[in-house]
Amino acid sequence: MKYSGYAYIYTIGCQMNVYDSEKLASILNSYGFEKTDDMEKADIVVCNTCSIRHKAEEKAFSFLGRFSKIKKRKPQLITVMAGCVAQQEGEKAFVRVPHLDIVLGTQAFSRFGHHIDAVKSGKKRVVDTKDSQVIYESLPDTSDNSCFDENKTSRFVTIMQGCDNYCTYCVVPYVRGRERSRSPENIVEEISLLAGNGVREITLLGQNVNSYGQKEGQISFPQLLGKINEINKIHRIRFATSHPKDLSMDLIYAIRDLDKVCNHLHLPVQSGSNKILKKMNRGYTREKYINRISDLKKQCPGIALSTDIIVGFPSETDEDFNDTMNLLHEIQFDSIYAFAYSDRSSAPAAKFFEQIDEKQKRERLNNLLQLQEHYTKKKNKELIGKTLEILVEGKSVKKRDGFEQTSGKMEQMTGRSESNKIVHFPSEHVNMGDIIKIRIEDAYPHSLWGYPLGA
Ligand code: SAH
Ligand code: SF4
Ligand code: F3S
Repeated sequence: MKYSGYAYIYTIGCQMNVYDSEKLASILNSYGFEKTDDMEKADIVVCNTCSIRHKAEEKAFSFLGRFSKIKKRKPQLITVMAGCVAQQEGEKAFVRVPHLDIVLGTQAFSRFGHHIDAVKSGKKRVVDTKDSQVIYESLPDTSDNSCFDENKTSRFVTIMQGCDNYCTYCVVPYVRGRERSRSPENIVEEISLLAGNGVREITLLGQNVNSYGQKEGQISFPQLLGKINEINKIHRIRFATSHPKDLSMDLIYAIRDLDKVCNHLHLPVQSGSNKILKKMNRGYTREKYINRISDLKKQCPGIALSTDIIVGFPSETDEDFNDTMNLLHEIQFDSIYAFAYSDRSSAPAAKFFEQIDEKQKRERLNNLLQLQEHYTKKKNKELIGKTLEILVEGKSVKKRDGFEQTSGKMEQMTGRSESNKIVHFPSEHVNMGDIIKIRIEDAYPHSLWGYPLGA
């Protein structure tokens, strides 16, 4: 059916959810709903949820809770909980959010339109948490940027869904299902369309991109990178996430040899303690991780490295935590994402003994972040005086102090380096999607400042 009205989409969670929300927007668009940023104006509101940590889950419930007031005033408003919490909770979602109309699991997107029709014709409380082997292939194309207010130069493309690794702390295998990969043809087609619409940078998404295509007997991930490297007008290729246990030499060679693949790797280590890594079921040791990093540094000099870390996993002692701190000293990551362990009832670690108290987790997290700040600053400072290639993303939202007084006709623009660092610079004649050379003059904890070469 075709309707008219406005759709408001609120996204919580990882990059995959951002990609999924684009798909949801395009489905709603094909049903006649226009996207709005004004919640009050909406005829349908979708909360695309995340359950990776308790906090993310609470954010979803509190957002949807706010809608009960609007729903009372406007009973025809359709409310949708989509994504990972929806998949996890199913029918139970109505206990906390009684006014919900649709609970749309992570694999139910192709049936979304059908569920809207059902609600429009009077059906109450639709729940769809069924599995689907194929998820994205049948959904509308989003390459024309119509799901955004403005064009974007950098976009995500999910190449595989689900996860079979079962790390003991993690809900993903339970909320995203078994691992399955899209076909290379389908992926290349989508990226070519994106390139035709002005996109210059692609980030390929999967929970463990190293095992791309293995189950399906398709080409390997490094081979897929090779194919994407040939797509005209794509300047940069990034990907996340690599699992250290499956990082192959072929992938390292691909990073080294394929000109568009950025010299940056996100390689989540989670802990520096072998005891904890074992309990997490990560499938590698601290030593193996360090060896992998040294292979990478050897083959890809100057490679930027980032990681994810969990502190306060059940039974983590001060000594285990120190092993993680020492790993940060040893590797010197460019940046880290660190989290306090959060108990997820569907994941095995929830039943582990020796849970760490919240105060201790917070203390460890603060110590870790403080240490990393030192290295992030150090890495950023090392770039002063160097020239970096920047992909221009647009105008800076926040201006540098004093910029207005000194800039004349210049605009403050922003972009990213190959190593994924945010770089601000003044210019009057660059466009989004341009690649330009910037000489770095100043370094801050989270960004760099410089001038275009020749300026
Ligand atoms: N597939 C990716 C990560 C997906 S989740 C990988 O294997 O690395 C993103 C990050 O969230 C994880 O790397 C982990 O650091 C963190 N995370 C996952 N479950 C968590 C939990 N229960 N508590 C705290 N952090 C968690
Ligand atoms: Fe979760 Fe581990 Fe799978 Fe990553 S690899 S999504 S942390 S189970
Ligand atoms: Fe969250 Fe689901 Fe992503 S749990 S991190 S939105 S896969």
